[in-house]
Amino acid sequence: MITDKFGRTASYLRLAVVDRCNLRCTYCMPADGLEWLPKAELMTPMEILRLCRIFTEMGVDKIRITGGEPFLRKDLLPLLKEITRLSGVRDVGITTNGLLTEQYIPHLKAIGIRSINLSLDTLDPARFFSISRRHGLERVLNTLNSLIKHGFDIKINTVVMGNTNIADIVPLINLTRNHPISVRFIEEMPFNGDIHSATTTWTASHITDYIRQHFPLLKKNSRQAHSTSCSYAIPGHQGDIGIIAAYTRSFCGDCNRLRLTPYGLLKTCLYRADGVDLKTAIRQGYDDDDLKQMIRQAVWDKATDGWKAENLSASRAATYQSMATIGG
Ligand code: GTP
Ligand code: 5AD
Ligand code: SF4
Repeated sequence: MITDKFGRTASYLRLAVVDRCNLRCTYCMPADGLEWLPKAELMTPMEILRLCRIFTEMGVDKIRITGGEPFLRKDLLPLLKEITRLSGVRDVGITTNGLLTEQYIPHLKAIGIRSINLSLDTLDPARFFSISRRHGLERVLNTLNSLIKHGFDIKINTVVMGNTNIADIVPLINLTRNHPISVRFIEEMPFNGDIHSATTTWTASHITDYIRQHFPLLKKNSRQAHSTSCSYAIPGHQGDIGIIAAYTRSFCGDCNRLRLTPYGLLKTCLYRADGVDLKTAIRQGYDDDDLKQMIRQAVWDKATDGWKAENLSASRAATYQSMATIGG
């Protein structure tokens, strides 16, 4: 078990496997000019698998592979298979923008993956292009339909942006009427801009008020431990909806999450600019016990909330990182 000095246990590893993305969502990265590190800086499948094994030996029992589109990595499927086989792993999930995932769905089912989270901010093709600066809604919807057909546990992640996709909230909720899926609305985090000029006007409470106006029978479900999402039911709907206060943050108190970037940096908070460089340690020949000691120390030092804990320049640095590298 790995614990921090506030008594929280880290049992959920979010693994970002690619730095690149095939979309350019405005809230995540600039339209162009991003510089990717050379491929040799990415962790190899062997390095990723070794770290996953080490984390599971330390009590991590849930691993989520995140993108962008994690399947931009051609070696992902065999790696996923190995990760699902690690003893101690109870749950392996994937978060994807859905552009390349459809072809892998039967294979994912065959290796025992049950839970897929799909990033989808709009059902309107023109808005899809203006948000992500690329075409591809049809492919994402094909992925969604195939996931439904194959009986996956599906969560749709929708970042709510004032003046952009408010008109999508009701149509997205309508998907839950006949399908047992969760649609989760996320406060926009100022990650690709400047936190001081950030305008997260659509906070969780605004989003909830808006939804209640359209669905007055909205009923709050009890909170599940470690969840970022406040869940609601709508009578007569098979699915449910969630609201994630990613910016105002009401859930740091029982956070159980760790993040590993594609470059092998361990981040103990989404809002932390720096990380502990496990990849370099591996390449310098550290053994498992050395790596475990580094991990134990990093988790022990985990702050109550990465943003508040850091100085201004570090927080600013974090806001210029692409979320593709951090993995949401
Ligand atoms: P499951 O709960 O396993 O389905 O995983 P998930 O990745 O969908 O859920 P999670 O609630 O972890 O993440 C959904 C979104 O919530 C992310 O894309 C982020 O926008 C946000 N989020 C996740 N973890 C954190 C966190 O530690 N801090 C903040 N501020 N936001 C987070
Ligand atoms: N604010 C909120 N959520 C974000 N995501 C990416 N960037 C942001 C941001 N600035 C979400 C995506 C995806 C997940 C991996 O992270 O919608 O679902
Ligand atoms: Fe969009 Fe996610 Fe890709 Fe960023 S990583 S550009 S949010 S799909």
